[in-house]
Amino acid sequence: MTTLSLTINGQKHGPMDVRDDLSMNDFLREMLGMTGTKFGCGAAQCLSCAVIVDAPDGTSTTSPTCVAPAMNFDGKSIRTVEGHARDGELSTLQNAFIAHFAFQCGYCTAGFLNEGQVLLERLSRTPVAREALEQTIADALDGHLCRCTGYVKYHEAVRDVILADSKRYLMATK
Ligand code: FES
Ligand code: FES
Repeated sequence: MTTLSLTINGQKHGPMDVRDDLSMNDFLREMLGMTGTKFGCGAAQCLSCAVIVDAPDGTSTTSPTCVAPAMNFDGKSIRTVEGHARDGELSTLQNAFIAHFAFQCGYCTAGFLNEGQVLLERLSRTPVAREALEQTIADALDGHLCRCTGYVKYHEAVRDVILADSKRYLMATK
């Protein structure tokens, strides 16, 4: 057993005892009942299980949870799909996913949503040129697998959010 404390969607959890071999995915789904984080391949290949990990310097990355022990997240601050909506209102990116009908079965959606959100936050700190946007989105979403093949719609949804607030996410043109 090990003792685990972490912050999820701004809320502190723990300290609590967890088995050393408990995966982060099982911790979220089975111990906390947060079933928005999915279990797909179970082999760190599809990223349907990815959550956002926030670093103290304000940057964020995504991390798979299926093969990672829960104890790896001790002391960390993470965000899951349950944390995107505020006061019952979906986030801009969530609404864009709906508008584009980006998901079908929805199994991969939380992972894409988390990855897209990390990209938006990165671009708000470090905007890119419009010419580089398509590749930037493709690179960011690369690695997320969608068995329903919704790749183009996810890409378009993320692009829509960026172009709708281009002053925030894109470099100023001369
Ligand atoms: S379920 Fe974790 S990467 Fe596929
Ligand atoms: S919407 Fe079904 S796996 Fe992506």
